[in-house]
Amino acid sequence: MPTHTMRAVRLHEHGGPEVLRYDTVPIPEPGPGEVLVRVHAAGVNPPDWYLRDGLTKMPGKTESTVSLPVIPGTDVSGVVEAVGADVDGLAVGDEVFGLLRFPSFDGSAYAEYVAAPASDLARKPAGIDHVHAAGAPMALLTAWQFLIELGHDHPSPFQAAPHRPVALGAGTTALVNGAAGGVGHFALQLAKWKGAHVIAVASGAHESFLRELGADEFIDYTRSRPEELVHDVDLVLDTVGGPHSSRFLRTLKRGGALFPVFPGDFDEEETAKLGVTVSSAQVRSNGAQLAVAGRLLDAGTVRVAIDSTFPLADARAAHERAARGHIQGKIVLTVVTH
Ligand SMILES: NC(=O)c1ccc[n+]([C@@H]2O[C@H](COP(=O)([O-])OP(=O)(O)OC[C@H]3O[C@@H](n4cnc5c(N)ncnc54)[C@H](OP(=O)(O)O)[C@@H]3O)[C@@H](O)[C@H]2O)c1
Repeated sequence: MPTHTMRAVRLHEHGGPEVLRYDTVPIPEPGPGEVLVRVHAAGVNPPDWYLRDGLTKMPGKTESTVSLPVIPGTDVSGVVEAVGADVDGLAVGDEVFGLLRFPSFDGSAYAEYVAAPASDLARKPAGIDHVHAAGAPMALLTAWQFLIELGHDHPSPFQAAPHRPVALGAGTTALVNGAAGGVGHFALQLAKWKGAHVIAVASGAHESFLRELGADEFIDYTRSRPEELVHDVDLVLDTVGGPHSSRFLRTLKRGGALFPVFPGDFDEEETAKLGVTVSSAQVRSNGAQLAVAGRLLDAGTVRVAIDSTFPLADARAAHERAARGHIQGKIVLTVVTH
């Protein structure tokens, strides 16, 4: 190991992007079941700014027990530098990517090195670079666990019943709201991979991007109300969510389903009357699922779109970019640039 210290971004207090500090800290030791990863790139996700803000905007109960100072971040792509006890199948020099320790909020990914549970990691798809791989884990696993397979039986903070994906295929129609964002652009591509007809809803600047990713129809929500244009869809995946998500109930056919990725409030009487279901889930780390989904990245079936990159030292600028909204794909921090 080159030195005993590394650079990392830490929060010493909660607040705006300005509380992200570029510090020098000890390199972590991988514990049992963990590997030390030399981080090449770290993806930026909404939970990073929820943690920065003090988890006040986080829906549901969090499992966070983190105390300050803390290194934020959950998504990494990098190279295994050392292997802890009880780790099979990973060796020094392996290229890996993963969503670390979510939903515990102690992923500690905004750093030059991170101790990562081996079970949260998968081999980085050889066909994509570290920046693109780091953009994938949380958003791709969210789309996967909502649409393809939940992959765990942990209770959800959002609902008592386990989330169940619905079958998508030729002859089914899915509407993706917030289609240009991290989760949305993967959800669109996974629904297309399954053979569904996909209606993408986003602001107008994203139209050509979303059509290139395979959207069959595009609705600019700044000009039209999707709930007035769309009827009889099988599934709505709403990455925007919140209280306004219930307007999508009337776009569904009887037997259809609404999946709010950011939970909202729904009237049980209304859903029963319409004959539709509402179901949500909280994404969880899962290296095995990422390995399966990673094959689609390797094959180019699913693309990781990069909104922007920032050096690790400029994490503040990355969070300021996120706060301006209208994200197209993923924001990624570059850590090792050679
Ligand atoms: N349940 C879970 O476990 C889970 C997991 C991951 C994320 N999430 C939540 O899911 C949400 C999305 O995450 P993300 O990573 O995809 O965020 P993101 O990358 O910031 O994407 C959000 C997208 O929504 C679009 N948007 C904003 N307002 C809109 C509106 N009124 N109608 C349609 N589109 C709108 C934005 O672009 P335009 O406005 O330009 O179209 C942007 O592309 C966040 O709230 C996050 O907390 C939940």
